[in-house]
Amino acid sequence: MGIYGVIGYPIAHSMSPLMHNREFQALKLDHYYTAFNIHPDDLAKAIESVRILEIRGLNVTLPHKVKVMDYLDEIDEEARLIGAVNTIINRDGHLIGTNTDGEGYLRSLLTIVDSLYAKKVILIGAGGAARAIATTLARQGVQALDVANRTAAKAEELAKHVNRFADCKALALKDAEEQLENYDIIINTTSVGMSPNVEEAPIRLDHLKTGAVVSDLIYNPLKTKLLQQAEEKGAVIHNGVGMFVYQGALAFEKWTGIKPNIERMMDTVIKKLGG
Ligand code: ATR
Repeated sequence: MGIYGVIGYPIAHSMSPLMHNREFQALKLDHYYTAFNIHPDDLAKAIESVRILEIRGLNVTLPHKVKVMDYLDEIDEEARLIGAVNTIINRDGHLIGTNTDGEGYLRSLLTIVDSLYAKKVILIGAGGAARAIATTLARQGVQALDVANRTAAKAEELAKHVNRFADCKALALKDAEEQLENYDIIINTTSVGMSPNVEEAPIRLDHLKTGAVVSDLIYNPLKTKLLQQAEEKGAVIHNGVGMFVYQGALAFEKWTGIKPNIERMMDTVIKKLGG
């Protein structure tokens, strides 16, 4: 029997235990996944406990994704580039940090677009989620991956990072709205529009290009105001459920060596969300 889990603060509303346990059961794996509420002051001790209790794998969520790197034995290249860890693998007491957020998002996006080659992409927001996604998408042959953010300094900082891999400029939200017809894919990485603030949208879509893809990392609600407005304009819309499921599925596979059933995981999460 293997013990797995997620650490965060707060962690009460995480859907990861349900998603992983249902999959363990369906695949007849004798494992169990639970949520650990870990105060930031206790993070070092919590990670030491992973070795002592022989917890085989952990997901890491807010606010621990960056700080946890200080306590691991190894950080793989993806997590190093992103600058954050969302998954820990315990190999006989040797703790390896990786990050499946960017790859999880990419896999989800590739279920609705064929490729990112030569695409012009804009991210709304410049926080941790934006950095993970930008780091992965920028290496997919995009023509440009620009960043628009409320706080200019943060957009510029992320743009500097992304420029290592792809053409990237920082924009103000207002300029992004006015230049929106330049972009094939618009991705909201901010929390604007998340429940309970469901009437808010991070950007106006007046200048949306015909046939554009509008993607929102939010999955509660499943269809944010932004996605409703995009749909009304005829855009292809994409919500955050797929990223959540794929980041979990990639972690599951790294821990167990077994590929989980994506459709079943998706079904579990969407039912839980009331979709
Ligand atoms: P995460 O790690 O989940 O990405 P974060 O690092 O706190 O969270 O980043 C939140 C992002 O959402 C930031 O880009 C933030 O903009 P600022 O850099 O200006 O703070 C953006 N954001 C949050 N609330 C916002 C709002 N009401 N309007 C515009 N942007 C907002």
